[in-house]
Amino acid sequence: MKSTVTEEDTVPQHVCIIMDGNGRWAKKRLMPRTFGHRKGVEITRRSIEFFARAGVKYLTLFAFSSENWNRPQDEVSTLMELFIQSLKENSAELNDKNIRIRFIGDREAFPQALQDQIAESEALTADKHLMKLNIAANYGGQWDILNAVKTIASRVTKGELTVKQIDQQLVASALSLADTPDPDLFIRTGGEQRVSNFLLWQLAYTELYFTEVLWPDFSEQEMQKALTVYSRRQRRYGKTLEQMET
Ligand code: IPE
Ligand code: IPE
Ligand code: MG
Repeated sequence: MKSTVTEEDTVPQHVCIIMDGNGRWAKKRLMPRTFGHRKGVEITRRSIEFFARAGVKYLTLFAFSSENWNRPQDEVSTLMELFIQSLKENSAELNDKNIRIRFIGDREAFPQALQDQIAESEALTADKHLMKLNIAANYGGQWDILNAVKTIASRVTKGELTVKQIDQQLVASALSLADTPDPDLFIRTGGEQRVSNFLLWQLAYTELYFTEVLWPDFSEQEMQKALTVYSRRQRRYGKTLEQMET
């Protein structure tokens, strides 16, 4: 089923989202921040369904940044528990909906139970292809670029590559989302207008969409609004308006 408002050819192929605002949503209700994270999980489920139906082929969600370890210990543990629980509860449904799930980021820092659950969910859905869902967890854009630099440097040291052979494509192929086209649309809920160390290399020509709406309030109507705004943007990639019109 196609989304109603947006034309098929203007549906972004790859959407990435910074799901921000859970804590403030809870605070407004005089509840602990973790209450907001629980509600956030529900919206995450709904957004995956929405974007898959809209015809989006790749969806990359920022779930936990490499800087989020600096939060209070009990919030971090609750988030780990929530990741395990929601993967347990939703992996079969993703599989049924023909959605592949993959994690990007340094998973080795996670509790073993979470690492095992991630591996299980990835294996279960490995051959699914309606939509490719990437969850960025313990992810940082600088970490990603640093890893790519190290991989390339070690290939040069081994004599597999010359410095001259290093080009944009080679760097892109050493990053976490190597097999994925760059995001067409970036969405950040929660009102902050920054990238917070999300996909840095890959956002070079991405259309940015910021909304004040907090993640737990990000309804299907708001999701559709982001797609509609995107469909009205003109992407020029450095060219002039006149060049684009001919
Ligand atoms: C985003 O919501 C979720 C995570 C970072 C895990 P926040 O928890 O950052 O919510 P605010 O920004 O404090 O409202
Ligand atoms: C970005 O949100 C990370 C995630 C949504 C997972 P933050 O709430 O951590 O970002 P800052 O601290 O406001 O930049
Ligand atoms: Mg935040």
